[in-house]
Amino acid sequence: MTTACVQHDPISRPIVLVGLMGAGKSTVGRRLAHRLHLPFADSDHEIEEAAGLTIAEMFEKYGEAEFRDGERRVIARLIDGSPKVIATGGGAFMNEQTRMLILEKATAIWLDADIETLVERVARRLGSRPLLNGTDPREKLRTLAETRNPIYALAPIHIHSKPLPHDSTVDQIMKALGR
Ligand code: S3P
Repeated sequence: MTTACVQHDPISRPIVLVGLMGAGKSTVGRRLAHRLHLPFADSDHEIEEAAGLTIAEMFEKYGEAEFRDGERRVIARLIDGSPKVIATGGGAFMNEQTRMLILEKATAIWLDADIETLVERVARRLGSRPLLNGTDPREKLRTLAETRNPIYALAPIHIHSKPLPHDSTVDQIMKALGR
């Protein structure tokens, strides 16, 4: 008896997860990287390491524009051609230069979820997300979705993450990648 063995082409480009806060980009990204035997990088984490400050501290000390500049530079460094999975912060793909780089050099995946799921997930780490400070998170996420979703939609792969265990989202992504 022979055993069928499916050979896949190796992943040749970075895989970049984009989408709103609470979509699960970091958790799903880490698990996806594990399944694909690739390194994982989280752009928010890389910015924090480079600055020696948390994102909340960076917003407070230097303002959003400075954070966005750091974010652009960190993502450009991460997209160095070597295959890996990169989770980006929710606003990264809004920067035209970053978006063009991602679309040209990587495989972008829009990780999407309905507002209730996002609200529930961000509630776990509200203080670490300065854009939600002093706002009604549901309302803020709804307006962000309205302005950002048409841009996230430029990603060639769109995955709707349901309020299910993250592994089922990873399964959906693997399928979309033909794995
Ligand atoms: C932001 C999302 C955050 C972080 C920063 C700004 C945004 O990342 O980069 O607070 O503009 O949507 P997550 O999407 O990982 O929460």
